[in-house]
Amino acid sequence: MPPALEARGIVRRYGTLLANDRIDLAVAEGEIHAVMGENGAGKSTLMSILFGMQPPDAGEIRLDGRSVRLHSPADAIARGLFMVHQAFRLFAHLTVWENVVYGQEPRRLLLLDRRAARARVATLAARYGLSVDPDARLGLLPVGVRQRVEILKALHRRVRILILDEPTAVLTPPEREGLFAVMRRLASERCSVLFVTHKLDEVLAVADRVTVLRDGRVAARFATAATTPAAIVEAMTGRAPVPRPPRAALAAGRVLLDVRALTVRAPGRPRLVDEVSFTVRAGEIVGIAGVAGNGQEALVAALVGLRPPDGGRVLLDRRDVTAADVATHRDAGLAYIPEDRAAVGSAAAASIADNMAMGFHRAAPFARGIWQDRAAVRAAAAALIARHGIRAGGVDRPAGALSGGNLQKLVVARELAHGAAVLIAEQPTRGVDLGAIESIHALLAAERAAGRAVLLVSAELSEILALSDRILVMFEGRVLAELAAGTADAQHLGRLLAGQRDAAA
Ligand SMILES: Nc1ncnc2c1ncn2[C@@H]1O[C@H](COP(=O)(O)OP(=O)(O)O)[C@@H](O)[C@H]1O
Ligand SMILES: [Mg+2]
Repeated sequence: MPPALEARGIVRRYGTLLANDRIDLAVAEGEIHAVMGENGAGKSTLMSILFGMQPPDAGEIRLDGRSVRLHSPADAIARGLFMVHQAFRLFAHLTVWENVVYGQEPRRLLLLDRRAARARVATLAARYGLSVDPDARLGLLPVGVRQRVEILKALHRRVRILILDEPTAVLTPPEREGLFAVMRRLASERCSVLFVTHKLDEVLAVADRVTVLRDGRVAARFATAATTPAAIVEAMTGRAPVPRPPRAALAAGRVLLDVRALTVRAPGRPRLVDEVSFTVRAGEIVGIAGVAGNGQEALVAALVGLRPPDGGRVLLDRRDVTAADVATHRDAGLAYIPEDRAAVGSAAAASIADNMAMGFHRAAPFARGIWQDRAAVRAAAAALIARHGIRAGGVDRPAGALSGGNLQKLVVARELAHGAAVLIAEQPTRGVDLGAIESIHALLAAERAAGRAVLLVSAELSEILALSDRILVMFEGRVLAELAAGTADAQHLGRLLAGQRDAAA
């Protein structure tokens, strides 16, 4: 039997960049096929071509062995394809069921049959275990639910080939398990699923086969049952994975960060941070786990001096810095790797050298009286670039020209360069490639070994589990539970992240 979907020799150029370089891909009926690769590998480009959003510069698409030309997504949908994008394309002011049937409404005598439409959506949701209220207004729903609405759209159109572009990036662990269950169910009904991800554990958990892309090319193909995680990582990055150094047990030292009943209010809403207390000691990494939007951002903003708390106290190495400004926090020994490296962590138009000095530019060795020592700034930047292997192409280029991974390494290098006693790292590896993740993790571990106190705030569970000595789970502004790293397993943590209080007992 020919593959349900086949791509042959797909080429796509953006200017001089070869985003897809002669890609071959075959997906069988009823197969869950992962497409894996680092940021920029060409995954989304390939999916957009398979879904008719743009034509390839060369190559051919076959459905059930027959060559087709897809002129638009509508064309692709008519042939049984459906794609759930990274950013959803739904109407906020319509209800769930209206979104699902939009453009494909059941009609009676040319009129929209509302009853039939609503009932169909409810039936599909029940049959596939997609928990949504058909009458809810879409704009008010959390992102995980919106994704289920997208999948319902696909089901309503009797999808035969479902394309999911990084669907798990926005999901909690239990939601992710739910999505995997739907994927398996669809596959058992002979639907083919193309599952784009850059996460190895997801590929191993759900995919039958995986095609690995690197720099626009197919780097390898595997049957997941017949390969090793190391082989997949090597294909994805082009080199063998770096083994994680064993972690020396350290006796945690004195308390360097002391947070007492910290509270941040939001007008007209529940407290963003609700009397949160914890400590971080020298030589310790404390991880704050939580699904985005449970108060982590407000907590960090209050801890680093970006917004004054409404209650409670913050002590840095016994010095009270509650409600002090960012500069005072720095003075007291705080380094901060912000979540938003582009807007908060760096200035895109300024040079790499100036970005390296940012926050420290008024002190020695960069300032001499009211003058800045340009040579010192440039030399320090060059040294950091060399030490951390940042691909910068010169210290006078604008920071905005750096790739995400290299910009993040720049911010991390800068923050760690001054020996601050306390480090707050907020989503330090979001959106960066595996190589940069490995080096940032190694740097955080080195900080711990050097006796610093590290607070790691991350939505990435594997990162929290790999690095933390203790784990605090945040849910709706509170610390729901505290776990020692050794006793935490991913499933238990997943239930806590979803706010299951009984799991906290
Ligand atoms: N519309 C576009 N214009 C120019 N370059 C693009 C465009 N879309 C993607 N690219 C580039 O093509 C490469 C592959 O991107 P993409 O397919 O989005 O990768 P992935 O989804 O694997 O992260 C990247 O270098 C990206 O910057
Ligand atoms: Mg992509």
